[in-house]
Amino acid sequence: MLEESGIAAAVRLPGQTKSSPEAQPKPVASSSTAFRTSRNRWSSPSPLRSFLSAAALVLVVALVQLILHDAKLQRLQVLRSHLIHSSSSSSVSSRSSFFFPLHPHFPPGPPIASPVAHFDDPDAVCLNPASFPSTQPTSIPLTTMALADDTKRVVDQFEFTDADVNAHVQEFLKQMNEGLAKDGTSLSQIPTYVTAVPNGTEKGLYLAVDLGGTNFRVCSIMLNGDHTFNLTYNKVAIPKELMVAKTSEELFAFLAKQIELFLREHHADRFESHVHRRHTGSDRRGYTEEQIFRLGFTFSFPVQQLGINKGKLMRWTKGFDIPDTVGKDVCALLQNEIDKLHLPVKVAALVNDTVGTLMARSYTSSGKHRSILGAIFGTGTNGAYIEKVENIKKKIEGEYDTSTGEMVINTEWGSFDNQGNVLHSTPWDKQLDRESVNPGFQMFEKCVSGMFLGEILRLATLDMMKSPESTLFKDTNSSTNDWATTTNVAAHSGLHRQWGLDSAIMSVAAADNTPELSTLRQELENTLHIYNPSLEDAQAFKSVAAAVGRRAARLSAVAIGAIVIQSGKLNDPKEDIIDIGVDGSLVEHYPFFRDMIHEALAAVTEIGTQGADKIRIGVAKDGSGVGAALIALVAAKMEKPGDFMREMRKDIKRQLDSLPAVADDSRINPAVAIGGVIGLAAIAALWWNKKR
Ligand code: BGC
Repeated sequence: MLEESGIAAAVRLPGQTKSSPEAQPKPVASSSTAFRTSRNRWSSPSPLRSFLSAAALVLVVALVQLILHDAKLQRLQVLRSHLIHSSSSSSVSSRSSFFFPLHPHFPPGPPIASPVAHFDDPDAVCLNPASFPSTQPTSIPLTTMALADDTKRVVDQFEFTDADVNAHVQEFLKQMNEGLAKDGTSLSQIPTYVTAVPNGTEKGLYLAVDLGGTNFRVCSIMLNGDHTFNLTYNKVAIPKELMVAKTSEELFAFLAKQIELFLREHHADRFESHVHRRHTGSDRRGYTEEQIFRLGFTFSFPVQQLGINKGKLMRWTKGFDIPDTVGKDVCALLQNEIDKLHLPVKVAALVNDTVGTLMARSYTSSGKHRSILGAIFGTGTNGAYIEKVENIKKKIEGEYDTSTGEMVINTEWGSFDNQGNVLHSTPWDKQLDRESVNPGFQMFEKCVSGMFLGEILRLATLDMMKSPESTLFKDTNSSTNDWATTTNVAAHSGLHRQWGLDSAIMSVAAADNTPELSTLRQELENTLHIYNPSLEDAQAFKSVAAAVGRRAARLSAVAIGAIVIQSGKLNDPKEDIIDIGVDGSLVEHYPFFRDMIHEALAAVTEIGTQGADKIRIGVAKDGSGVGAALIALVAAKMEKPGDFMREMRKDIKRQLDSLPAVADDSRINPAVAIGGVIGLAAIAALWWNKKR
């Protein structure tokens, strides 16, 4: 049947051709001269020449077809051996539906007789297959049970029971109190010098910058005094090389530059008039306190706070590693770089993002309930809460307002249980920690926050893929695929790279409840380059991702639950709501994260369902920016008249003093003079030599 078609003639093998021997094509010339010669020779067509050219053309087409056909044959043979291999396994799969559109060449209907060799005949050679599969897909035995078992093996290791929640809460309370008693404990419990939270009536225009983890944000915030605010911001990703820069200066100079760009873009008037005053030397006349921006610096790393705008970095987290900065005052580092650019900006307050979140939540909530805790569940995790000063047994250096009897404490709970009293780690947690820049530190954060969840999932997934028992992403069932839709993981897939799996895919996995998991499978393809994953692959991936996410949420409940207990508000009949402000990608984007937290809170003995119902967890969007502005405002209010300019002048003097002494231009520097003489002598000697 095929031989009779025109296509069949075109694909005949050279040996089968009916053309005459003269019809063999000449070798194709590659240079342009050869091309011209050959064109001249064929320039006066005759019937024989026309016939020969047609024959040559047919032969070339035949050769091309042959090459293509061969390649396809090879692929089919690979597929064939793969199928023969997989058909020897014992269990059966129901994997027959795909989210991808069914191959157009797979129409449902009766089987069509086919000349294509059957795969179970090892000697059959398929020389001339139809260009479409011509048998209906059959169910190929699969090792799906093995995949289910392997998935369960992994998922079980992330199990975090109610009993675990309770044991962890008790340990958390213990470590909180240790941190309030002395320095150097796992929960740092850092006094922040913030002794009151806003009530929503605060007003003014402030700058805030936020160095959090992934991005750097510069904002200006107009506090309207009625629980509302207007925020303008620029955001840039922090270049990876700056996170591990050699010197602090490299990072802080970059931050100052971003502030300059922001001012030029959004506050051009104020910026230009400042530049003008500097250029015209009219500083003394127009340099007033009102023209200087107060800036709240949200610096989301553990800092030993020494005052409202002073604090030494204790250690870097979230992948940053610039040893030079540890132990230095980060406000001074930023102010120095700002001053080098001559910006009208004064770093007025140093704020952790959790403190900012607590402030922002208090500013925006209009009810009678003030928030007791600000927490971040994003790239990193941490919480700041209001503590009674009498419970802070360790010494608080410097001055602070004692009138409220309270102070906000930055717990730095990312380091909870670094010593491993209760936290149990899976093999993948251990590997992640070993390969991190800070092994042994931030152990709680490494199980909870967005920066690490994707990496845990990646390591667990990779482990499953490597296991001979597991069939994950191995395409053990290609019965409904042709060669072009075989499951495969690209060599450049993020699965093979540290930090190559973005936690965002976990949200997609959690949100996809379609029967075919089509969104997740598309995402696996788009972001991880795992092509044509089967439904079972996606189900396994979803289960492991859910287990990692659920453990993170329940651990988050441990921290929140312990602080709620510590606040003493659970049994206070006057408190019908215990308000908590949260921010970060996990609470914002991971489906049901807050619900899972609530469920675990209800399992805490001291809280129970009734207590959990009192706890209100609300998102404080842009909390760190607004919070920093609010604290800059508090700092500004604490200034005595003239303080600000006095400090500013002191800063300028300090900078001038630190400059190296400049030589008087009018005198000739002896080193330069001697160098010049020697140089001239050398030139003269050369010239003299040449002349001789
Ligand atoms: C830092 C905290 C910060 C948290 C959330 C942690 O890595 O140590 O200071 O609040 O991340 O950004």
